[in-house]
Amino acid sequence: MGAGIAEVLARGGFAVVGIEVNREALERGRGNLKSSTGRAVKRGRLGEDAQREILGRITLSTDFADLGDCDLVIEAVPERLDLKRTVFAELDRVCRDDAVLATNTSSLSVTDIAVTTGRPTKIVGVHFFNPAPVMRLVEVIGTVLTEPEAVARVAELVEGLGKTPVTIGDRAGFVANRLLFGYLNQAATMLETGHATRDDIDAAMKAGAGLPMGPFTLMDLIGLDTCLEVLDAIYAESRDRRHAASPLLRELVTAGLLGRKTGRGFHTYDKSGPAEEGTSGAAAPTVGVVGVGPLADAVAALCERAGGRVGDSAAELAGCDLVIEAAQDPEAARALLSAAVQAAKPGTVIAVTSLDGSADGSAIRQAMATGRPSDVVGLHLLDPAGALAEMSATVATDPDVADRAAGLLSRLGLTVVRCRDRAGFIVDALRLPYLNDAAAMLGAGYADADSIDAAMTLGCGYPTGPIADLDRIGPDRAVAVLRALHAETRDPALAPAPLLVEHATAGRPLR
Ligand SMILES: NC(=O)c1ccc[n+]([C@@H]2O[C@H](COP(=O)([O-])OP(=O)(O)OC[C@H]3O[C@@H](n4cnc5c(N)ncnc54)[C@H](O)[C@@H]3O)[C@@H](O)[C@H]2O)c1
Repeated sequence: MGAGIAEVLARGGFAVVGIEVNREALERGRGNLKSSTGRAVKRGRLGEDAQREILGRITLSTDFADLGDCDLVIEAVPERLDLKRTVFAELDRVCRDDAVLATNTSSLSVTDIAVTTGRPTKIVGVHFFNPAPVMRLVEVIGTVLTEPEAVARVAELVEGLGKTPVTIGDRAGFVANRLLFGYLNQAATMLETGHATRDDIDAAMKAGAGLPMGPFTLMDLIGLDTCLEVLDAIYAESRDRRHAASPLLRELVTAGLLGRKTGRGFHTYDKSGPAEEGTSGAAAPTVGVVGVGPLADAVAALCERAGGRVGDSAAELAGCDLVIEAAQDPEAARALLSAAVQAAKPGTVIAVTSLDGSADGSAIRQAMATGRPSDVVGLHLLDPAGALAEMSATVATDPDVADRAAGLLSRLGLTVVRCRDRAGFIVDALRLPYLNDAAAMLGAGYADADSIDAAMTLGCGYPTGPIADLDRIGPDRAVAVLRALHAETRDPALAPAPLLVEHATAGRPLR
């Protein structure tokens, strides 16, 4: 990170002094600077003269005294409070009294570092994302002790470097890591508790939430040791059990399986990376759609698009491979379903949809009402026009039926992911708590809507920010899903944030 930050500053025209712990590390840093700017030259993004100028602005040294004339010092030593404190004590000694001292810590308390220096008013956090030359977000952190001018000067400098500063207070994980790691850890817990498989969770979050990669692929990329470090630091402050690192994550770290950098973490990496799943080429099935309304219409359209035959009369249902209940209200669903089940031949797979994927999560209740629970699976089409089908098997579902249901749904051209019969299936169970955390952060006045959205889009590569997501999903639906998740788990953190409830009640978006 140190080399990346030095490069960003030198590219911005600043003279930079880079300090390393010894000559060997210094040469490694020099190598990093050369190869990073060299890559930019190769790609035609930087001329050779410009590269020479950039590298010419950086002086490397192992002597802290060389920092004596600096206006700003950014510390990027390993993430250990004792080490950072030692480094800051040294900086305090050698730097000018008016110099601002910044830490690039990801998760330690900036205040904890500031209080041991002789100049707490001049200590800020300046959190670059990796790789620093590429990522546009920089979180700028002021503590209760920092003078506002120091924060403003650093934010201005960051802006001048072509980055987007988000100015916030000192809370563990700041905005981006606080929101991201709660979600990542919950995915690990979901795997550990057998709710769904690693590949199904990864696939669901890509296809259903539009994320560039699933949580396990992302954790492997970040490094599981770093994930554990960040989670431990956030948990130490939040005491929210969702931040208590999943035992599975801890076990992988203890075993030295740290992700991509060691060739194995949640996934195993060879040259080709994680294996892609094949798709079924078999003919589209005959599908009965039970119910009226937009969901039923969308399901019928989806089946027709895939070349399936769609029917809804008793005679047609009798010949179907798969019957999908897609009624709009639960009472109607129950009546329609029992008629459909009577018409369907034995062995027909029956899929019951929950209206918004939340309901109370239980396909089992609808399954029991059919009198044929072993033939019933739960189904959630997150966006009926989209490609993802989340399918749940209840404790009563015959495993062969679940396999057949997955096969039939994939023959409709859907990406099928499987999970247990719980509220929110996979996508909403992981996405809504994250969105709720963002709403709580907004409600607490920690950061504004634009900063929260910028943190996730520019810092984590999310296609859209959580506040924009909440407005797209609708605060009312978000509240409904959260209430279902809360009712099932009784986890206080899953109770909808008051701000979200207020917006849902008022029928107003958050922005
Ligand atoms: N890696 C990331 O993705 C990332 C992203 C954002 C922030 N950060 C934060 O940046 C900091 C550094 O992370 P990193 O991944 O670059 O770590 P790293 O271990 O790769 O690099 C740390 C460097 O600090 C040097 N160092 C150690 N003790 C020193 C001392 N006393 N004086 C001078 N240099 C010393 C080491 O030789 C090493 O080159 C951490 O606080 C981390 O949380 C990391």
